Amino acid sequence: MNNKKTVIILGGTGFVGRAVTEKYLKHNWRVIIPTRSNIDRAKYNFLLHGFSKNVLEGYIANNIILFAPNVDLSNPKWTRVNSWTQLLIHIDISNDPVSRIINLVGETSKSAVEILKSNVDALESVFTLVKCIKSKNNNVLFINMGSVAEKKSDKYLSPYEYSKKIARQKIEKSNLCDFYFVAHYIKGKGEQKVKLAASKLWRKLKYSRKWLFGFKVSVIDVDDLAEIIYHIIEINKIIPRGHKPIELNVTNGELIFGEMIKRLLSKDKRNIPKQIIPRWLENSFLYLYSIIIPIVNPNDQFARRLASYAKRGLSHSKKQIEGGIFKTTEEIKNLALDTDNYDVLGISPNLIVAIKHSPEIYVLRERNKVELERLIEM
Ligand SMILES: NC(=O)c1ccc[n+]([C@@H]2O[C@H](COP(=O)([O-])OP(=O)(O)OC[C@H]3O[C@@H](n4cnc5c(N)ncnc54)[C@H](OP(=O)(O)O)[C@@H]3O)[C@@H](O)[C@H]2O)c1
Repeated sequence: MNNKKTVIILGGTGFVGRAVTEKYLKHNWRVIIPTRSNIDRAKYNFLLHGFSKNVLEGYIANNIILFAPNVDLSNPKWTRVNSWTQLLIHIDISNDPVSRIINLVGETSKSAVEILKSNVDALESVFTLVKCIKSKNNNVLFINMGSVAEKKSDKYLSPYEYSKKIARQKIEKSNLCDFYFVAHYIKGKGEQKVKLAASKLWRKLKYSRKWLFGFKVSVIDVDDLAEIIYHIIEINKIIPRGHKPIELNVTNGELIFGEMIKRLLSKDKRNIPKQIIPRWLENSFLYLYSIIIPIVNPNDQFARRLASYAKRGLSHSKKQIEGGIFKTTEEIKNLALDTDNYDVLGISPNLIVAIKHSPEIYVLRERNKVELERLIEM
């Protein structure tokens, strides 16, 4: 029996998962990572996050990181307790207590089918694992990652927004989740998807300036997010209240979306393309685009996301659109002053503000604009 505490990180090979894994390893935990792929592929992902090959091999040789390959959570096999029991026996931890299960599974940019499979179908398997572990150790905590995408209330949702919304409902209904983290844009070390999409988005800017420069997004550095998850659960020891998960909205601050995309391009490619649509036509263009694209291109995830950006680029009143979706740095600081309705649970390194009588918390680890811009370039 190993004397380290054990965490299972589902999605541990992903962009967010690698940062959370690193944080738990640093604090002397043992990490178990189920993955659809093989161990070589899983190792390669960790090199993307900046792990040195030797350190990684050392963790694996000493059973501090345990990869469980060929675990596709959307396969019904993993909705059977027996499959998990056999897996735990196979990796030789069936007698060790697992203290945390963190679910960071979820495709963000593949086809609509893949997005639905990994964000929604996979949940039944996740719940089976949580129940299986809880039957041995009732104190295990289950932590899940959500997204502000699930808070959109448009008629036309992109497959990602739709999947996150359904996932949230399923998670609440399961009564299994203790902490539910919500982030908008997670950036930093090892992030590749938005970097790849950035030049495409930038080219689209030639049609309309508002397209990318019209709205603010809340940004969180992936390492800060991992640190916050660790802090909230292991250091602040915020206590889950009953069956409803505590929702934690995390941010470093906010940036204009267009500026964020611009920072992801190499310096010589950052010139703003010549505008094709005259300003007075921008609103109509964006309006039509945001309506037409989901109808003519319903299965193209990228096109649907562009339509969603176009819609947000439409409004001059950013607050009106974003107000319900995330809180800005200033808004979180103001909540902290409203002692009738909010409790301040921490000031440093995170400003943690909880709504009284509701399991909803805002966590701000403030970064200034220069720091934010630097971290998204990583
Ligand atoms: N990135 C962002 O800006 C952002 C913002 C807000 C919220 N989030 C949320 O954060 C979570 C992680 O995002 P990410 O950017 O880290 O995604 P990512 O890099 O694409 O990682 C996804 C992870 O999920 C695993 N996975 C996917 N489908 C699976 C399946 N069927 N069975 C088993 N494992 C599966 C992948 O593992 P293998 O490929 O190794 O199997 C991988 O480890 C998601 O829930 C996402 O919605 C992300």
